[in-house]
Amino acid sequence: MENLITDYRLSTKEKYELLLSQLESLILKGDNKISSLANLSAALKQSFDKISWVGFYIYENQKLWLGPFQGKVACTSIDIGKGVCGKAAELIQTIIVPDVNKFPGHIFCDSDSKSEIVVPLIKEKKLFGVLDVDSNQYNSFDEVDKHYLEKVCTFLMNRIN
Ligand code: SME
Repeated sequence: MENLITDYRLSTKEKYELLLSQLESLILKGDNKISSLANLSAALKQSFDKISWVGFYIYENQKLWLGPFQGKVACTSIDIGKGVCGKAAELIQTIIVPDVNKFPGHIFCDSDSKSEIVVPLIKEKKLFGVLDVDSNQYNSFDEVDKHYLEKVCTFLMNRIN
């Protein structure tokens, strides 16, 4: 698949539905893991104008390491329990941050970032990493984003090797 269909006029729910319907052909069983993560970060960035940064941190040697992403350069590694990413990984729980200034310990990788959502990635009952999505506007993410991003992440974990 080389062309993703997107439409900024759709509602958030419709945008996710459109994206999900195309993931079947974007991420194939047997594809290289890094290629799949790279294309999924691009697909999310392309689908939503509210996203300023989106990418993966991958769990290795007790830390989260920067993986494929779209946006400005970011921190190379994050300790478990630190920042929104480390907290989501520690708690194995999606975290929505409506205002990053109000999240104790938030790691400022990008000074433009105002709100954020982080979804933990679990593969075969083990922590694989997290998906981090940032916006340069406050209150960009809600329960609809949580619902669909978790769905997208579950799909991804089932597809990759
Ligand atoms: N803000 C994140 C760090 C990663 S960057 O935003 C890309 C955090 O607090 O974990």
